[in-house]
Amino acid sequence: MNKMISGPSNGLTGKFRVPGDKSISHRSVMLGSLAEGVTEVSGFLEAEDALATLKAFEDMGVKIERLGEGRLRIHGVGLHGLVAPKNDLYVGNSGTSMRLLSGILAGQTFDSVLVGDASLTKRPMRRVLDPLALMGATVESTDKGTSPLRIQAGVPLRGIHYEMPMGSAQVKSCLLLAGLYANGTTTVVEPAVTRDHTERMLKGFGYEVKTEGNSVSLQGGGKLSAMSIDVPADISSAAFFLVAASITPNSDITLEHIGINATRTGVLDILLKMGADIQLLNEREVGGEKVADIRVRSQQLKGIEVPENLVALAIDEFPVIFVAAAYAEGQTVVTGAEELRVKESDRIETMANGLLSLGVDAQATADGMIINGGAVNGGEIESYDDHRIAMAFAVAGLQCEGEIKINNCENVATSFPDFVELASTCGFNIEVI
Ligand code: S3P
Repeated sequence: MNKMISGPSNGLTGKFRVPGDKSISHRSVMLGSLAEGVTEVSGFLEAEDALATLKAFEDMGVKIERLGEGRLRIHGVGLHGLVAPKNDLYVGNSGTSMRLLSGILAGQTFDSVLVGDASLTKRPMRRVLDPLALMGATVESTDKGTSPLRIQAGVPLRGIHYEMPMGSAQVKSCLLLAGLYANGTTTVVEPAVTRDHTERMLKGFGYEVKTEGNSVSLQGGGKLSAMSIDVPADISSAAFFLVAASITPNSDITLEHIGINATRTGVLDILLKMGADIQLLNEREVGGEKVADIRVRSQQLKGIEVPENLVALAIDEFPVIFVAAAYAEGQTVVTGAEELRVKESDRIETMANGLLSLGVDAQATADGMIINGGAVNGGEIESYDDHRIAMAFAVAGLQCEGEIKINNCENVATSFPDFVELASTCGFNIEVI
């Protein structure tokens, strides 16, 4: 897919499931590989990012059977059973793979090198390298603190007490995974609650993890025991449809089996505050994660000041939340979201540029955006090779004047390969060039 052209729709309908949760998919392969025994995974996200993690573990000697339709059978090798990869480990666009793997690789007895694509090569890695160094790890990066990351083997790790300077589940997870290999206790304290899938899944694999307020601790030297994992559908992918159905009159869609872990539901709270008509149906728990079907019907949204305590809980959904704000009545103000500047693109800049070029009154700020809702014109948009920017503007096309042409959409495949197909089935009007 090179370009998408998204035009107005008369309404979205249907009941369907979006692909599996990206964060949980990565972790299922990581912990399944490091466990003792065979881990069966269903609902795995077969998209480039999670497949990059899978390939990295195959390169380190783990046998992973692909049973079709998101089903994996992982033959775990135990915490000390990985073997040296023959080549550098290439993780494409995936920050989660690189940051979490750096923690695991710091505990191995072989040297390794992590490399990524052009976008990942620009992203900050000191946030994991600095605390890993405190644990005793030796990891070389470029002078700018970016990848390639060269991880030296055989350095004994020690547990640390680390207060993270930013709210980042990737940093927290990297350190907890390194902590599995460390002497003593590793404690990570976060300034704001971030997604807790690593902690939950470690417990599911039988590892003792203590959570007290904003601090998480574990002791090195234990073992992981294989389990079955049912990966829920990804709320971050569902978010595009939540906004799409809200802004498109005559819409009524139900998204099935969506993960509603409380550390991920900021987008629901934000849209509900904006007046969205969203209902959670059939709430249940699957393998330690809460899931529900989510029904959303069209509703005029209104601008709000987004509470800062919801920012980390909706961090990946801001591109499409900004689109919701563009169609809302009144002003939306987002603050405390400076982490958006270090995602697959600088999502404050890329979204503000795109919205401005569509005639939206959007003003980028250092840590967020101010958007005055109103009409959205058609136009031509750069995705800056960022999957969520591309999909957010496909949603913006649903009620625009004319149509929106979005350039460089290949990266949609990193998280949502069948986006266009699913979107078209429920009533989007998207052409792919
Ligand atoms: C992720 C954490 C978030 C998120 C990313 C996935 C994870 O990043 O943006 O898409 O799986 O841990 P940060 O933890 O760096 O905010």
